[in-house]
Amino acid sequence: MIDKWNNAQVYELGYWKYIMENGIVCSNVTSDKIYEFQRKNMLETLLYSERPIEFWKDKIIIEFGSGPLGVCEFIDDKEKIAIEPLINEYRKIYNHLQESDVIYLDKCAEGPLNIPDGYADLVVSINMLDHVIDPLKVLNEINRICKTNGYFLFHVNVYLSESDINKKSGMHLDLHPHSFTKIKIFELLESYNLSVIKFYCCPEPNEQNEHHFICFGVKKKC
Ligand SMILES: C[S@@+](CC[C@H](N)C(=O)[O-])C[C@H]1O[C@@H](n2cnc3c(N)ncnc32)[C@H](O)[C@@H]1O
Repeated sequence: MIDKWNNAQVYELGYWKYIMENGIVCSNVTSDKIYEFQRKNMLETLLYSERPIEFWKDKIIIEFGSGPLGVCEFIDDKEKIAIEPLINEYRKIYNHLQESDVIYLDKCAEGPLNIPDGYADLVVSINMLDHVIDPLKVLNEINRICKTNGYFLFHVNVYLSESDINKKSGMHLDLHPHSFTKIKIFELLESYNLSVIKFYCCPEPNEQNEHHFICFGVKKKC
């Protein structure tokens, strides 16, 4: 798995380098507009929680696999921590990271993470669980770090069946070491005490036959 993950991380870094140089062509976003584009997307994603952005101001937010332009970069709150193994590489490409007030941990989210149990008011994981080495260890850390009755905001692209997963190929397969059906994601979240309050699964698949899935929920008492 580690070779597969390393390979995926090379592609991942290549992607972020490419868009900084060329923009996001399919969305008509030039490279000088990427920061604003991502800001809008990330804040919209956070608003899925049905809480205004100011709600998080006095809260501790921990973001898993933030990339260079995660939610943490765009909000003011008490403490912002992001766990991102490529952060030192992203710093070479994205200038805003030089002045960032986010505490980045240059680590994998599987742990061990030097963060106390029940530390976070909100754990964010956007488009990362299918990129990691061991999704179960990552979910275990989300559960451990999130306080009881704290919140989680979670996104991943899902498949509707195992047979759709088996059709995965090419670059898409290289970039994503793991794949999940929607049912599997519900089972996994539940088994790590992450109770879904609301979710949305886009009925239309993307070009890779995945469906955009987002949910917001609360960490139950273990
Ligand atoms: C597709 S990007 C998403 C970035 C960001 N969340 C976003 O939506 O823009 C996936 C990110 O997960 C990070 N990642 C991969 N494996 C990880 C792991 N084991 N622990 C933490 N982050 C990881 C990658 O370095 C990459 O930045």
